[in-house]
Amino acid sequence: MERLDFSSKAASYEETGLIQKMTGRILLDLADISGSDRVLDLGCGPGGTTARIAQMTSGRVVGVDVSEGMIEKAVATYSGPPHLSFLARDAAQLDYLNEFDLIFCNSAFQWFTDPEPAVRQCWKALKPGGIMVIQAPATSRYCPLFIEAVAGFASNPETAVIFKHFKSPYFFLDSAREYRELFTRFGFMVDYCELKQESNRFTIDEVMGIFKSGAENGYLNQAYYDIALDSSYIETCRGILRSLLQSKADSDNKVALEFTRVYLKARK
Ligand SMILES: C[S@@+](CC[C@H](N)C(=O)[O-])C[C@H]1O[C@@H](n2cnc3c(N)ncnc32)[C@H](O)[C@@H]1O
Repeated sequence: MERLDFSSKAASYEETGLIQKMTGRILLDLADISGSDRVLDLGCGPGGTTARIAQMTSGRVVGVDVSEGMIEKAVATYSGPPHLSFLARDAAQLDYLNEFDLIFCNSAFQWFTDPEPAVRQCWKALKPGGIMVIQAPATSRYCPLFIEAVAGFASNPETAVIFKHFKSPYFFLDSAREYRELFTRFGFMVDYCELKQESNRFTIDEVMGIFKSGAENGYLNQAYYDIALDSSYIETCRGILRSLLQSKADSDNKVALEFTRVYLKARK
């Protein structure tokens, strides 16, 4: 049985995580890192962006991720600079106190099944005046194409019986006001919070890669089903997505992939 979680994706993620790379660049602009900032990259994945951050500051940079496989990959690829380190830990279990000037969190917040303790621990980890920036897919219709594919998993006779046992791990709020309130509740001053709709055109294979690098670690992960997934289920679901993409593709074999995302900048 194929095991689906972020650890199993560590090797291919840098290639397929196209969206996370794009949004990571936007979030870096919002973060405005300078000279000697001490930075925590939360949900750092295989560490590519963490390593970029370490080139932008001489201060301590720590990449944290709950997935052991992601951290192993990050350590193997990017260890070297003495001010850069990686740690396998759940965001809700952070135990830093007044350590960082910046917490950077790109495309990871939607996976925090327990976001409240994570936000609390982030507030503690920041120095007074420290900044937290997040970017994450937002709203229950965060990506209409993926939502439509998942509706297909629910209705297709080959997958419907198993899909009934899926319990979503995702954390989405439906408005900028709710994201603002979540951070305000734990002591943050929110300087900026906006939901943005973005649409980009990708080939069918690129969209399949984007799905595999992120969303399917939820939708097709044994951990979120209370019955055993049989071996053909994952491939049938991927096939449902691929057929949907084929039905939407233009003559250039590309589809428009739309996402709603939250961008937030908050201060301790
Ligand atoms: C889509 S990846 C994003 C990786 C990286 N930030 C990027 O922009 O490419 C999401 C990452 O969040 C991590 N993650 C999920 N839940 C987490 C948690 N509770 N605490 C820390 N990391 C978590 C996953 O293991 C995964 O590596």
